[in-house]
Amino acid sequence: MSDFRIDTKCVQAGYRPGNGEPRQVPIIQSTTFKYDTSEDMGKLFDLEASGYFYTRLQNPTNDFVAAKIADMEGGTAAMLTSSGQAANFFAIFCLCENGGHFVCSSSIYGGTFNLFAVTLPKMGIEVTFVSPDATEEELNAAFKPNTKAVFGETIANPALTVLDIELFAKVAHAHGVPLIMDNTFATPVHCRPIEWGCDIVTHSTTKYMDGHGVGVGGVIVDSGKFDWMAHADKFPGLCTPDDSYHGITYAEKFGKEGAFITKCTAQLMRDLGCIQSPQNAFYLNLGLESLHVRMARHAANGQAVAEFLKARPEVETVTYSGLPTDKYYERAKKYLPKGGCGVVSFELKGGRPAAEAFMKGLKLIAIETHVADARSCCLNPATSTHRQLTDEQLRDAGIPAGLIRLSCGLEDPQDLIDDLTQAFANM
Ligand SMILES: Cc1ncc(COP(=O)(O)O)c(C=O)c1O
Repeated sequence: MSDFRIDTKCVQAGYRPGNGEPRQVPIIQSTTFKYDTSEDMGKLFDLEASGYFYTRLQNPTNDFVAAKIADMEGGTAAMLTSSGQAANFFAIFCLCENGGHFVCSSSIYGGTFNLFAVTLPKMGIEVTFVSPDATEEELNAAFKPNTKAVFGETIANPALTVLDIELFAKVAHAHGVPLIMDNTFATPVHCRPIEWGCDIVTHSTTKYMDGHGVGVGGVIVDSGKFDWMAHADKFPGLCTPDDSYHGITYAEKFGKEGAFITKCTAQLMRDLGCIQSPQNAFYLNLGLESLHVRMARHAANGQAVAEFLKARPEVETVTYSGLPTDKYYERAKKYLPKGGCGVVSFELKGGRPAAEAFMKGLKLIAIETHVADARSCCLNPATSTHRQLTDEQLRDAGIPAGLIRLSCGLEDPQDLIDDLTQAFANM
């Protein structure tokens, strides 16, 4: 469906039923698939024929939904994973093995930060963090001879920084490595990183793509543009025979368009088994069908609430790239011309006690460790996700004690503003 616009792709890409077939994506709730001869099955194992044999590797429901997301992002292939964490792990691990290194924006989701800074080093994979606002020179300085990739988030969770995708892609390519972007908060409705030079896109589909707080999931999309063979010395996992897969060289057999996702499926999913369930893939597709309608409303609600908070005397600062006073306003105009997302963060005067009193007063907006679904929710990191840190440590981490992360859902914006107003009045 690559000729259609993004709104149409949200609704119809990925699954085109034939005559008399189900109109909605069918849930193939089966772990295994039946064949008439061992020869038929052998061809699948040898990657000589395409088809299904075991749902830990591939399932038709998942493939329909993955194909939709690949089309929405402008990629050539995609794979669903059991979570966003698994998607980011696979994306890096497909390129970087023991002894490898990658460069990463420091402004990323805390779970991804832990994965990269604590767990991957235990596997011999090293990361160098750079500022999301690093200059070309600063980025160049972070590269090493064993660097295999660059990673960033389009709109970072929770700092809401907006990355200069073109710059990061340019520097990555100058060093012969791909740029991987976690596009969870922007979604392909508001930004398609591949159009700005990014090579691989990941998502926590748990967030806006699902959009209803129903299923944890992730996805990896390959642009099909990175020429692995041109940098074969850096990517032996793609460019030399895989002994665990009958000596197949992924980049040779599947080309630029298919090598990355085939390796993710045939090798990583086979061995690590983080597949999304077909039932969750079905729910995800329902979310995708309305993503374009919902994202416009999330962003409009985020904008209205950010403007309201900006004018409140109780509020010290508001971070939202749609505000002309925001550090990322100009960059957001370039990368997010249709708007950003529904997540706004703001710091209350009066620190931790003020944040606690304010949140206690909320009636409509719930306190949750979640963002990016239909119902508005909020969180004070100092009293929840980061409660082990002192006020001083919080300040050093760029998370003031009075900071509230508010995820604006799909409610009427005036009801959200009314709820915030009464909570301010009752502090
Ligand atoms: C930007 C981003 N990437 C990845 C993740 C991890 O996703 P999941 O919770 O689906 O594993 C999250 C979770 O909040 C996220 O916000």
